Amino acid sequence: MLKAPFGPCRADEEISIETDLTTLPWEVAYKFLIGSVIPRPIAWVSTTSADGINNIAPFSFFNGFGAAPLILGFAPMATEDRPQKDTLANIRASGEFVVNIATESTLQQMDATGRPYPAEVDEFVVAGLTPAPAAVVSAPRIAESPINFECRLFALIPLGDAAGSSTLVLGRAVHLHISDTVLRDGKVDATLLKPVARMGGPFYARPETLAFRRADRE
Ligand SMILES: Cc1cc2nc3c(=O)[nH]c(=O)nc-3n(C[C@H](O)[C@H](O)[C@H](O)COP(=O)(O)O)c2cc1C
Repeated sequence: MLKAPFGPCRADEEISIETDLTTLPWEVAYKFLIGSVIPRPIAWVSTTSADGINNIAPFSFFNGFGAAPLILGFAPMATEDRPQKDTLANIRASGEFVVNIATESTLQQMDATGRPYPAEVDEFVVAGLTPAPAAVVSAPRIAESPINFECRLFALIPLGDAAGSSTLVLGRAVHLHISDTVLRDGKVDATLLKPVARMGGPFYARPETLAFRRADRE
């Protein structure tokens, strides 16, 4: 038997779901969202608190939204017990952050930085990662990540005010580091980068390039 949010149902029955998302408990809606919008890239965000403590956290509500200005966005979500994540508090205080690209070689460390450590804990130390100075922002880069976008806060957009709501953080990337280890012919090569993405539940994924190519491109 499956324990579905709609009452028990048999696992071998073909069932479809029609549901009103405006009344569904947010935790259930969240599971449908993260199981459906897959795979999601991961912003591995480094910040510094007003007290000078370095912080790292992964966010898979993440994407790029423009090239000039170059805008990256991610969304920390509020829960009953954590209405504001440390990353968001730090960005409100400093107006700066670094989006580091998460890759296979640091999957375990990235996953570890997703745990709810208290604000006083330096997650570089906890996860055994190396803070590297950024070129133009005060937050450190993660040295183990081969691509780092240094960002200044562009806009904070609250997407609600209750548990389950997010704040969309839009950053203008003002400086970019790319390690030569992931470059081929001056371009980022996915097979060298080996990025990781988040799936539903506790699962991660790696991208696989398909043979089919865009018909209107070389
Ligand atoms: C791969 C991964 C992706 C995550 N994506 C998000 C996300 O998009 N939004 C969010 O609020 N939390 C997300 N989390 C959970 C946060 O990383 C977690 O709450 C973390 O403790 C926040 O840290 P902070 O308080 O230092 O900002 C994710 C966790 C993992 C492991």
